[in-house]
Amino acid sequence: MSKFTTITAKVEEDGIALIELNRPKVLNAINRSMVSELLSAFEQFDRDGRVKAIVLTGNNRAFAAGADIDEMMNDDAITLELLNQFKDWDQLHTIKKPIIGAVSGYCFGGGFELALCCDILFASEKAQFGFPEIKLGVMPGAGGTVKLTKLMGQKKALEWLWLGEPMSAKEAHQHGVINRVVAPELVLEEAVKFARTIASKAPLSLRLIKETVYKAVDDSVLDGMQFERKNFYLLFSSEDQKEGMKAFAEKRRANFKGK
Ligand code: CAA
Repeated sequence: MSKFTTITAKVEEDGIALIELNRPKVLNAINRSMVSELLSAFEQFDRDGRVKAIVLTGNNRAFAAGADIDEMMNDDAITLELLNQFKDWDQLHTIKKPIIGAVSGYCFGGGFELALCCDILFASEKAQFGFPEIKLGVMPGAGGTVKLTKLMGQKKALEWLWLGEPMSAKEAHQHGVINRVVAPELVLEEAVKFARTIASKAPLSLRLIKETVYKAVDDSVLDGMQFERKNFYLLFSSEDQKEGMKAFAEKRRANFKGK
């Protein structure tokens, strides 16, 4: 694993990789180096055969309080265009392995957008989610507007985005934005436990289910079903399909290899 300065990243036991955001002095504000390091860590873990699932977390005070305002305050439209500002952000969506987010404290702006790049989200009862960009005279730029709308519907999304006020973990859960709300001291533990549970499942099935679910968000039912069908057929070319069904017939636990 490469050396990082804005995050830490390591492979834990049981096929779980852990990435922690590590700019505590600025509440894990996300600068360009952090996005680049995050992408590098995710891509390394995506290629690493030992890793079955990836957990992403911040610290107790903040998952991340947004994109780094100091870094972007003097930017203009042309600088951002020439930098291709969201290139690395967009690439985060190419990660094939399951990403489980464990959120405590502030999860604002770009921090919320990063959390929304996770496939499953666990949050502390005390976590706060929000898009305060409106108070800075801007708006989300890394998919926040789009994802929030798809998750909670247009009326509610407009309300949250226009007001820019934080929503509690309970509200985020009620609106289908996060999966589970847990006691503050248990967030990371529960996220890792969930990651371990899915790490024991057939890796290729996990991968193709992820791909098919995200495709379904934008597809018609018929298009989504055709895509699903192709991936269903594809899994019948895997050794794990043979092993899974043989194990069922032999009344034993399957030993999946991810091929
Ligand atoms: N960027 C840069 N620095 C930040 C930051 C950010 N997004 N959020 C917090 N910090 C820094 C503060 O400037 C402060 O630094 P100093 O100690 O050097 O002054 C340090 O982190 C601690 O923050 P506070 O003293 O403000 O802590 P608090 O507990 O009083 O308040 C907070 C916490 C309510 C989260 C407040 O820090 C805040 O409002 N932060 C900004 C939130 C925000 O607007 N996020 C959206 C950013 S824009 C964006 O994300 C665009 C996009 O979609 C890509």
